[in-house]
Amino acid sequence: MYKYLALLLGLLAGALSAQEPAKPAADAAGEGAKPTYVNSETCQACHEDIFQAFLKNPHYRLETDKKRRWEQKACESCHGPGSKHAESMTAADIRQPAKLAPSQADKTCLSCHRNQLTHAGRIDSGHARSAIACTSCHSVHKPAEASRNGRHSAVVQQCTGCHLNALASFQKPHAHPLSTIPSAGNNGMSCLDCHNPHGAAARANLRFASANEPGCLKCHSDKRGPFAFEHAPMRTEGCGACHEPHGSANPRMLTRPQVRLLCLECHSNIASQPGTGTAAGGTLGGIPPAFHDLRSPRYANCTGCHMKIHGSHVNRSFLR
Ligand code: HEC
Ligand code: HEC
Ligand code: HEC
Ligand code: HEC
Ligand code: HEC
Ligand code: HEC
Ligand code: HEC
Ligand code: HEC
Ligand code: HEC
Ligand code: HEC
Repeated sequence: MYKYLALLLGLLAGALSAQEPAKPAADAAGEGAKPTYVNSETCQACHEDIFQAFLKNPHYRLETDKKRRWEQKACESCHGPGSKHAESMTAADIRQPAKLAPSQADKTCLSCHRNQLTHAGRIDSGHARSAIACTSCHSVHKPAEASRNGRHSAVVQQCTGCHLNALASFQKPHAHPLSTIPSAGNNGMSCLDCHNPHGAAARANLRFASANEPGCLKCHSDKRGPFAFEHAPMRTEGCGACHEPHGSANPRMLTRPQVRLLCLECHSNIASQPGTGTAAGGTLGGIPPAFHDLRSPRYANCTGCHMKIHGSHVNRSFLR
């Protein structure tokens, strides 16, 4: 109790000295007065465990670094001026980001983090359009996962907690190995290998913005080219013209159960008729020359002959 008394006195003194000279003293401490900044030590008195944990938080830097302008009042950089709350001890008198509308909560975080480059990508409040606040993914007061592997899996778990469909596609028979699957070993992937959770600009928050330079090539560099003869959709539509990015029921994660069906979507008369879609709405290729007898099993396995289907250095028909 002593502690609180001392504290309250301290606060009162603080409030008095912080007020502008022109204002009557009663107003600064009384009802309706605008709360003023106190300091983190004041918060510590009642929130000791949070304060102790905060010593290890990256935001603790705010507490000690003069240049960042929140020296000794880091708590209030997110929670707003706390004089009123420190007196009343009621929740209503302090800003609690987790209870605000997502756009309001994000404003707090973005006052420092807007457009910052993180290892997941530049922060552009991407999920915010869907009312997913920074605080749905970032817990400020809970300690972060220590190991990188643990972090990888924690991220996947967090994302798939909301994106059940994505999780389901990764569980299909032919899929990219997620880090949460024990058998994935060192190949284990994270959603962040392809997505920036903060991104807004690119389609599907992808870390890569254009079909020309897909992030897929980071790992599948043999598909990068440049090829003397490149299969056109590699450049025009990207890998998604023929592959499911997460996983698929079809071998090689193809969008169609048989390679032949995939090819014929762009390489047949049928496809060129109005109203019949091509793969991913893609551009039409030429019709296979007449010696291709499409009813014969010999011609069923297109990539048996067109082996360099992504591109070739020597053959314009991708035969080798
Ligand atoms: C004199 C004690 C005391 C001081 C000083 C104090 N708090 Fe609190 N704080 C409380 C109590 C008690 C609650 C719980 C209120 C409730 O649940 O109604 C609380 C709740 C909170 C909450 C949660 C509000 C919510 O909506 O759930 C936040 C955030 C908070 N305090 C931040 C701070 C910050 C920041 C400071 C320093 C500027 C601070 N407190 C100083 C006693 C204090
Ligand atoms: C970087 C922003 C930020 C800073 C700095 C910060 N907080 Fe918080 N605080 C939050 C957010 C966001 C929440 C909502 C819960 C969460 O996401 O962890 C929160 C929740 C709380 C709560 C409510 C906890 C509960 O379980 O309901 C208290 C109390 C609190 N903070 C006190 C403090 C104190 C004391 C400090 C300084 C030592 C501090 N905060 C510094 C952002 C911050
Ligand atoms: C007053 C400025 C400020 C505000 C407001 C702020 N941050 Fe930070 N944040 C920082 C600083 C400083 C760091 C330390 C890293 C650095 O120096 O850039 C940091 C680091 C982080 C990190 C990296 C943590 C890690 O483990 O490395 C995350 C995540 C983060 N902030 C999220 C948030 C969220 C979410 C909010 C809103 C609830 C928020 N920040 C509000 C200044 C701020
Ligand atoms: C959909 C989930 C999600 C949302 C929403 C989100 N983040 Fe992140 N954020 C992440 C993930 C995942 C990481 C990468 C963490 C890692 O690699 O361990 C990250 C990293 C960061 C980092 C850098 C941490 C580091 O280790 O370099 C900062 C800073 C940050 N986020 C701030 C924010 C802010 C500010 C917002 C709100 C505008 C926000 N984040 C919204 C998931 C999210
Ligand atoms: C190998 C790269 C890659 C990885 C890893 C990846 N994604 Fe994707 N994801 C993509 C691509 C490419 C698209 C765009 C598909 C399109 O627009 O046709 C996409 C689309 C999405 C979409 C929007 C469309 C849909 O399918 O609903 C969501 C949501 C999504 N991914 C979530 C996730 C989650 C969650 C994870 C981690 C469990 C993850 N992704 C991992 C590449 C990836
Ligand atoms: C709290 C729930 C939640 C979490 C956690 C979450 N998301 Fe989302 N995400 C959403 C909602 C809601 C949308 C918008 C609706 C939709 O497209 O499903 C969205 C949209 C997306 C999209 C864009 C879909 C499109 O069609 O453009 C991608 C990609 C995505 N999230 C990836 C991720 C990744 C990666 C993570 C983990 C770092 C993650 N999300 C964590 C709720 C969440
Ligand atoms: C972080 C690295 C990484 C990224 C990024 C990546 N992949 Fe993969 N990819 C892998 C790994 C690892 C495998 C599994 C290889 C194995 O099982 O031998 C794989 C397998 C595949 C396969 C199946 C190969 C087979 O033999 O069945 C296809 C197709 C594929 N990826 C396409 C893509 C596409 C398309 C993208 C972009 C949307 C992409 N990858 C992004 C690492 C990656
Ligand atoms: C025009 C359709 C098409 C496009 C576009 C395409 N692929 Fe493929 N890809 C295939 C086919 C068909 C196979 C299966 C070949 C076979 O039957 O052996 C395949 C196989 C693969 C394989 C596994 C076998 C191998 O060669 O390693 C990987 C990995 C792969 N593709 C990655 C990619 C990446 C990355 C991109 C984008 C840069 C891409 N593909 C774009 C049609 C395509
Ligand atoms: C998304 C549509 C699309 C898919 C799917 C597709 N192609 Fe193509 N392909 C094209 C386009 C467009 C060209 C370039 C046509 C041109 O330049 O006149 C092309 C070019 C070719 C060429 C080079 C000869 C030529 O006409 O220039 C061959 C051979 C070929 N494709 C075979 C295949 C095979 C085999 C498959 C199935 C594995 C396949 N394609 C799948 C669109 C596609
Ligand atoms: C038995 C081997 C073989 C099979 C199987 C095969 N092709 Fe071909 N394809 C060829 C040869 C050889 C050429 C002629 C190449 C040349 O003239 O340079 C050719 C040419 C083409 C061309 C035109 C290339 C150009 O340069 O104009 C297309 C398009 C094509 N094939 C598509 C397909 C499709 C689609 C399938 C599967 C339904 C398929 N091929 C199956 C051997 C094959």
